[in-house]
Order: sequence, then structure tokens, then C-alpha cells
Amino acid sequence: MNANVLDFLLSRKSAPIAELRPPAPDDDEISLLIRAASRVPDHGRLVPWRFMIYRGDARLKIGELLAKRAEEREGPLPVARVEQEKARFARAPLVIGVIHCPRDNPKIPQWEMLLSGGAAAMNLVLAANALGYGTNWITNWYSDDADSRRILGLAPEERVVGFVHIGTFTGDAPERPRPDPETLVSEYTGPWQS
Ligand SMILES: Cc1cc2nc3c(=O)[nH]c(=O)nc-3n(C[C@H](O)[C@H](O)[C@H](O)COP(=O)(O)O)c2cc1C
Repeated sequence: MNANVLDFLLSRKSAPIAELRPPAPDDDEISLLIRAASRVPDHGRLVPWRFMIYRGDARLKIGELLAKRAEEREGPLPVARVEQEKARFARAPLVIGVIHCPRDNPKIPQWEMLLSGGAAAMNLVLAANALGYGTNWITNWYSDDADSRRILGLAPEERVVGFVHIGTFTGDAPERPRPDPETLVSEYTGPWQS
């Protein structure tokens, strides 16, 4: 048994995005994170995901474009909201986008590919936490908007699994209520009866 790994999993929690500060993982650490994120179950070895690095000034450029896009969708917005959109990718020093890339396959459904992408995002989160960084996995409105996905570098057929925000977190994130595992498990007794 690896008690350290279990303790790590049982105490894992996200850090508030606004409290993620530099330094962020460097290039070598990012390579390590991507190796860990790529090592996930993947039916048919289709590799139905890829990763996008957002850092430096690119985060500000994205902010300008997302603010413009938000006004295209909603009309003129208050200054505070425009500033919020401009800051979306600039809150953390590093954002790694986990991108679902559907593959044509006669046997393997797309939902399985999406789930593999979720596993990749979770491995990415855990690997960054193992390196000592704070993380927060979000999607937000721009993941659900085709024009915004294009702004963020996705092809039309691709979808966002998550934008994993990564940085140094020195605080202690408040614990949130966790589900009671007892209420989530049942012993199989037969087919569902309605
Ligand atoms: C696929 C996915 C998308 C999410 N998108 C958002 C989001 O857009 N905004 C948000 O505030 N939280 C979002 N969350 C939740 C954050 O990750 C949240 O901070 C986290 O669930 C806190 O719980 P934890 O401490 O167990 O990680 C998302 C989570 C998942 C799995």
C-alpha cells in the first residue's frame, strides 16, 4: 500500500484562482506535467486530447479578445465586467488547456474519448499538485462558445475539457463540503426497477 499517495488524494483540493501567483512551472516541469497528463486510459489508443499552454502576454491578448466577444454576445457591458473578461486568463501565471480532439472510429464512441480527456485533466491537476503548485480546473462561458474556442486556439470540431490554472499558492484553501461516500455506493441486487 502507498499511504502517501492515498493521503495526497484524500486531502487534495483546488486553490482559488485569484491567489495563484508566480512562479509557475517552468518548461521542464511543464514537460513532466504533460507526460503525467498523457498517461491515462485511452480506449483504442486514439490520443483524443491535446494541451495548449497559455502564459505571458498571450493571456492579455486573449483577455482583449474575450472581452470583445462577450460584448458581441451580450451588448455593451459595464467597465467592471469588461475588466473581468480581460483578466480571465491573466489571473494565474500559467493556464494549460486540455482539449478534446474527437477521432473518427467505428468502434469507440466519442463520449469515451471525452472521458479520457477528463482523466488527462485530472492527472495534470494531480501532477501539478505533486510538484507543489496550486491548481484550479475551470471551463467557463468561453468554453461553450464556438467563436471563443477559436480565439483560444481550438479547431471547430474540438472541445474544451478544462483550463487548468496553475501557480504558487501559499494560503490554505477553505475546505468545501464533501459528499458522504456512504450515500454514493450500493451493492448490486439486480436490474433497475422503476
Ligand atoms: C469540468 C469542470 C469544469 C469546471 N468549471 C468551473 C467553472 O467554470 N467555474 C468555476 O468556478 N468552477 C468550475 N469548476 C469547479 C472548480 O474546479 C472548483 O474550484 C473545484 O471543483 C473545487 O473543488 P475541489 O477543491 O474538490 O477541487 C469546474 C470543475 C470541472 C470538473
